[in-house]
Amino acid sequence: MDNIRIVGGARLAGSIPISGAKNAALPILCASLLADGDHVFRNVPDLRDIGTMTKLLSHLGLETSFEDGVVRVRGCTVGDADAPYELVKQMRASVLVLGPLVARYGKARVSLPGGCAIGARPIDQHLRGLEAMGAKIELAHGYVNVVVPKGQLRGAEVVFDIPTVGGTENLMSAAVLARGRTTLVNAAREPEVEELARVLNKMGASVEGAGTDVIVIEGVDQLEPVDHAIIADRIEAGTYMVAAAATAGDVFLDHVTFDHLEALAAKLREAGVEVEREGSGVRVARRGELRATSATTAPHPGFPTDMQAQFMMLMCLARGRSVITETIFENRFMHVPELNRMGARIEARGRVATVEGVDSLSGAEVMATDLRASASLVVAGLVAKGVTEVLRVYHIDRGYEHIEDKLRALGATIERVPGRI
Ligand code: EPZ
Repeated sequence: MDNIRIVGGARLAGSIPISGAKNAALPILCASLLADGDHVFRNVPDLRDIGTMTKLLSHLGLETSFEDGVVRVRGCTVGDADAPYELVKQMRASVLVLGPLVARYGKARVSLPGGCAIGARPIDQHLRGLEAMGAKIELAHGYVNVVVPKGQLRGAEVVFDIPTVGGTENLMSAAVLARGRTTLVNAAREPEVEELARVLNKMGASVEGAGTDVIVIEGVDQLEPVDHAIIADRIEAGTYMVAAAATAGDVFLDHVTFDHLEALAAKLREAGVEVEREGSGVRVARRGELRATSATTAPHPGFPTDMQAQFMMLMCLARGRSVITETIFENRFMHVPELNRMGARIEARGRVATVEGVDSLSGAEVMATDLRASASLVVAGLVAKGVTEVLRVYHIDRGYEHIEDKLRALGATIERVPGRI
């Protein structure tokens, strides 16, 4: 497996474009199961997770192709509505085929995703919602088997115990072809949920309220194929914003939706970083010292859990003590021991990490088993003294398109090298 090798010390400067959002593209690709015909999805990032999703759609019998950021899917009637462990274990988001399959075929067999590095991540809320819509659920041999006795789901009121992004997306995609009205209460408000609703509506669905915590869906009989360009990846943008701040750089990130970045922008400004919306992008620069700033993750529009590791890394360089609290996932501090190996002073207890700022970090060989934790280590490598090698870039490749090229364009000394193990 490849590693990423970084020689720290460069101040990032210049301009790069931000790619399409992985977490928006994944449920949208699944929505192609809802309608026959030729779907075109543009601005899709070239990432490992997207490859896994197109593989899963192909496994289900759909024709897919990917070229220059455009995924074409020929929707058709699938044979077995079955998502095997082999694919689901590679990517939890595979479970997002469940809603569309059950809506269209009245049945699905999908491997249970199990836990992952960042937490247990059950799908009980997805399943409870489908049950409320008339599905019968059976868990056996590591799979969830869903059958709708009358063939078609019926609308229902579903109140989520917690706002779940995937749960909201799965149930929204199921409800569009159900009989009658579905109301999702305490729904996730993430921009990716809103984007999926936009696509479903383009396909002829009736979804209202996405982006708020109550979403109302009126079922329709049939949907049409769609041509859609995916929104920008707010987490990729956020990661480069932190990298610009960490290196005391001056960077312009193009093709972003600034409104999706408000919580992060507010925290960066609190920490002494300049963040300006400029046309279709955002400019991030730092001239003075970083101020210690505490942050607590929360569902959107709160501070995103997917930016927690990168922001914590930034706080390692701030003057004073900051407290970072993770409320979404129970095990999302895998970067802590690695950052400490680079000279950071972080103490993590349960879901709370206390960070004492240090003057500098030192390069080291580091590794993490989660995408955003790995990203925080790359940013740490950019500022650390000497050479940092981030092992197993597999995780980075799941979520950051051409990361070395983009950082190199901003002046970083970074390359991909073959791993020794
Ligand atoms: C999505 O995961 C994202 N993934 C994650 O991105 C992101 O961290 C997360 O939302 C939170 O913003 C995709 O969009 C593909 P959840 P998802 O359901 O949908 C608990 C990244 O780095 N929960 O909102 O799986 C769950 O355990 C990642 O790109 C239940 O208890 O997240 C967690 O604690 C990783 N029961 C919390 O809710 C359920 O049925 C939020 O999870 C569902 C979730």
